[in-house]
Amino acid sequence: MSGIKLISTGSALPRQEVTNFDLEKKVDTSDEWIATRTGIRSRHYCSGDESHLGLCMAAARQAIQRAGVSPADIGVCLVATLTQDTMTPSAACVLQKELGLAEDTVCFDLNAACAGFVYGLHTAECLLAASPRRYGLVIGCEVLSRITDFTDRSTCVLFGDGAGAVVVEWGADYPSICAVMGSRGNREVLYIPGVNTGSASYIHMDGKEVFRFAVEVLPRCTHEVAEKAGVPLEAIDRFVFHQANQRILDHAVRKLKLDPARCAGNIARTGNTSAASVPILLDELVTTGQLASGQKALCAGFGGGLTWAGCLLQLA
Ligand code: UT7
Repeated sequence: MSGIKLISTGSALPRQEVTNFDLEKKVDTSDEWIATRTGIRSRHYCSGDESHLGLCMAAARQAIQRAGVSPADIGVCLVATLTQDTMTPSAACVLQKELGLAEDTVCFDLNAACAGFVYGLHTAECLLAASPRRYGLVIGCEVLSRITDFTDRSTCVLFGDGAGAVVVEWGADYPSICAVMGSRGNREVLYIPGVNTGSASYIHMDGKEVFRFAVEVLPRCTHEVAEKAGVPLEAIDRFVFHQANQRILDHAVRKLKLDPARCAGNIARTGNTSAASVPILLDELVTTGQLASGQKALCAGFGGGLTWAGCLLQLA
């Protein structure tokens, strides 16, 4: 048996907080509609000199510092994102230099939309098994405000910017995170046009279809991870689900018969930050003592692709 454990976390949110009341001033919407339909009350947007790289750096530095490891100890650096500053170099590649990682560190970005961070954890676990160094840095970072169409009121109220980072350690005697993942090629339900389409790169989403997909896949994926790990749901300390919509989360809690106290979220304050949502929430749980040493968190994400992924992560 071999696998990774969570050593430390970090996160960064942009300075500017945008409440539903702020959005009311530029979008035909209301605080009441947004809060009732989504659970979101505010989110953060990058402004001024803030950037995707800046958020990645702040979250990563915090996680590395809290881990007490040297950047030279890191063998893998992955950034889950679809809003990196440049298509190439990748954000992970830029971090190699900025953080002082060794040149033979495996650095790349990966895009599995809102499931990206958990895809990243699984990828890190596999890559670290073949690495000369045992620490990995996995980041989820998004600046979704830059690809939000503010004329589409049903999507623009959902998204926010932010970054979360973790340092994980690989051990020959650590349990695997038992990742479960999947994809279902669908180009209509949730898409962002790429550079070859000639269209503006805004998020297009059929909210109702994504909702249906989420309520189908999140409970199933959760069960599959628990089964693969051989751990009953009652023995899992925290459920760290992608923060997309409070109604999706409430549905999963009911369907899985989970104790709501073990599923605390932060969507009211962050909105949907796609690949960043799971690591931002993980950081909140660890820094507030809600996820303690030795405890297990079942992390799961779902989104564009359509993709989904779940895993069981233990805090060292
Ligand atoms: O990370 C994964 C990515 N995305 C998701 O997880 C999104 C999943 N889907 C959702 O969260 C929900 O489908 C939404 C929040 C996007 C929409 O909620 P809904 O309950 O499915 O609303 P709807 O689209 O059916 O719209 C209901 C009504 C419509 O008005 P009429 O036709 O009933 O008069 C909309 O025009 O609400 C109206 N509406 C709004 N009203 C005020 C839609 N957006 C807004 C808005 N403010 N922002």
